[in-house]
Formats: sequence, C-alpha cells, structure tokens
Amino acid sequence: MSLTANWSYPTAIRFGAGRIKELAEACTAAGMSRPLLVTDRGLADLPITQNALDILDAAGLGRALFAEVDPNPNEKNLAAGIAAFKAGGHDGVIAFGGGSGLDLGKLVALMADQTVSVWDLEDIGDWWTRADADTIHPNVAVPTTAGTGSEVGRAGVLTNSETHVKKIIFHPKVLPSVVICDPELTVGMPKMITVGTGMDALAHCLEAYSSPFYHPMSQGIALEGMRLVKENLPKVVANGGDLDARAHMMSAAAMSATAFQKGLGAVHALSHPVGAVYNTHHGMTNAVAIPPVLTFNRPAIEDRITAAGAYLGISGGFDGFFDYVLKLRSDLGVPDKLRELGVGTDRIDELAAMAIEDPSAGGNPVELTLDAAKSLFEECI
Ligand SMILES: NC(=O)c1ccc[n+]([C@@H]2O[C@H](COP(=O)([O-])OP(=O)(O)OC[C@H]3O[C@@H](n4cnc5c(N)ncnc54)[C@H](O)[C@@H]3O)[C@@H](O)[C@H]2O)c1
Ligand SMILES: [Fe+2]
Repeated sequence: MSLTANWSYPTAIRFGAGRIKELAEACTAAGMSRPLLVTDRGLADLPITQNALDILDAAGLGRALFAEVDPNPNEKNLAAGIAAFKAGGHDGVIAFGGGSGLDLGKLVALMADQTVSVWDLEDIGDWWTRADADTIHPNVAVPTTAGTGSEVGRAGVLTNSETHVKKIIFHPKVLPSVVICDPELTVGMPKMITVGTGMDALAHCLEAYSSPFYHPMSQGIALEGMRLVKENLPKVVANGGDLDARAHMMSAAAMSATAFQKGLGAVHALSHPVGAVYNTHHGMTNAVAIPPVLTFNRPAIEDRITAAGAYLGISGGFDGFFDYVLKLRSDLGVPDKLRELGVGTDRIDELAAMAIEDPSAGGNPVELTLDAAKSLFEECI
C-alpha cells in the first residue's frame, strides 16, 4: 500500500514521502508569494531545512529564514519573529519543525498585525474574538517531528518568560491552510526526540479518549491513533529509517491532535508547568506522567481502557493496559521519574497550583484537586 494521499480533514494535508518538493506550490495555494520560514535554532542548519529553502528559492519565493526560536518558545521569540516578518515584507509563514517551530511560526502569522497582546488571545471562552481576524496571515505547516500534531491545530503554546507559565493561544484562523506531512523529514530526529514526541502522540490519544466529554468522532480517532503508536513507535526507535513506520507515526501525531479537540487531562496539566519551569522536553515529561495519572483516573476510565485494550490486542483489562504502558516506556528508555529530567521536589506546591489552573486539567475524568496534583507530582518526581 502506498502511504501517500491528499486529505482535506481537518485541513488540506499533502501526505507522503518526498512531498516536501511541493512546498512552493503549497505556499502559492495558501496565497503567499513572500513566505518567511520559521523554525527553531536546532533545525536551522540541518539539510532538511536548507533543502526546503532551496525549493522556495528555485520557485522564486526567496529563502527567508527566522530561527531564533527556543524549545518551549516564549514571547521574546515571538517579538523577534514578528520583527523579522515585518522587516522582510512577508505575506505568510511556513511553520517548520517540531512543536516549537510550528507553534511559534503559527503565532507569528497570527500576531504580526494585531493590536491586542498575545496574552489576550489565550484559549479561554471567546477571547479569540478579540483578534482582528482580517489581519491574520496564512501559514503552511511542515512537521519534522511526529508527536505534537500542532500542524493540524488551531492553537500555539507559548511560555511566558516572566511568569514561567505555558499558555495556549487560540484562534480558528491559526489552523494551517496547507500541511505537508513528509515522513522523510523525521528520519534524522535524535532518538530521544523520536521517543518523546511519539509518547506525546500517545498521551494526546489516551487523554482525549479518557476525557468525559461527548465527542464520538474524536473517540474513534484517538483509538486508532493509539494503535498506530503501539505498532510503529517501537519500529521507528529500533530503525529510524523505517519510512512506512515513520509515516504511520506522522499520521498518529496528526490524529492525536485532531482527537484532543475533545479534551486533554492531567498528564498535560502536570507536564505544562514542568516544561515551563524546568524547560524539560514536553513529550518526555508526559511519558513519565502517564502511569501515575492512569492509576489516579482508574475509577472513571476502567471500562473504556479495557475496551481500548481489546482493540489494541492487549489482554488483561485495565491492568494489562497499564503494564503495556510501563513496558513500552522501559523498552524505549523513558526515565521512570522526572528527577532524571532535572526536576526537583522543592517547588511541588507551586507546580501543583499551576497544574490545577492549566486548561487541560478540566478534561481530566477525575477532578484534579490541589492535593491530588501534589501527590501526583510527588509520585512523578
Ligand atoms: N500546538 C499544540 O497543539 C502542541 C501540542 C503538544 C505540544 N506542543 C508544544 O510543542 C513543543 C514541543 O515540540 P516537539 O516535541 O516537537 O519538540 P521541539 O520542536 O522542541 O524539537 C525538539 C528538538 O528536536 C529538534 N528536531 C526537530 N525535528 C528534527 C529533525 N527532523 N531532525 C533533527 N532534529 C530535529 C529540534 O531542533 C529541537 O532541538 C512544546 O513547546 C510543546 O508545548 C504544542
Ligand atoms: Fe502534548
């Protein structure tokens, strides 16, 4: 079966190995003639990024690059990106990279001509209506990791560098106009980024699947996303060049973010403050938090986890699923505790207070109280 396709759901997706060569065409389809490619520092000099710039250049679209983007990007990165966008007279953004490059790129396109502050567009109620939608520039998304699913999302995660809080910035027009999912771009990911981002996709699917809201469409997508991760994440970790498995992980990532329109939960609520305060990798932080959160949620999700296990070919009900996650983590070299990622126990009260305020907390099937968050952090660290 050829793993190449054009999808129009949840946005226009050109999926398949080698399709980065359609980048210039995708920009034209999105209405851009002077795109700014936004990515993070780590990717700037890599051949995949330079090749993307060459493709643009050859098509007469220039080779403008902005790469002053940190992992867990912040408002300073955003301000610098907007300055580059304006200085170059650009008319759209290519958001290129893992979640960090994708989110920051999408936010540059959103914010370049707004008069409101980015913090006024946090994903709360109808705050997005505060933005002037007519000034939002188009973006084309090109993921180079397979996990965040930001390429199909209408939000960008931005860390406030003063308060160390991660905020979700939302507007429907942040959804990329065109996405190029080319699994070849993910082949060179460092092993632990492959693991961390793959576990992020699993966390999205699992949390969306477990959240209590009524959204059967997401439920189905989350379940198949989990299956794709189960079948393919061990393969890409064992052999990074397995292109079919890389393609399936790319699908799983996009599916995971499509599914989490239903909601996320305590894994992400715990992980966001840890990432903002300690600058840990998002997916790896989630991976550590999954088992304790599964146990915490057990009273509310036992039946549906048993059903998921049956679909995934895992026997033993909830316990079987739990053991599967533990084994997956240890097989992939995920640390057992956040301590191993540099997180200390001295700020648990502060982290717990941030976790219960995180928007993901509201999607957890069991109420995440302050005491519960503290105990979960104690267990995770
Ligand atoms: N918008 C969303 O819905 C959403 C969802 C989940 C996470 N996030 C955010 O995404 C960010 C994490 O994204 P991530 O996990 O993809 O990591 P990342 O974007 O921070 O990238 C991690 C590292 O991998 C490198 N890298 C990326 N692709 C590579 C490749 N193909 N080859 C070699 N190196 C490569 C990068 O340079 C970087 O050093 C966090 O800020 C998180 O909050 C956003
Ligand atoms: Fe995530």
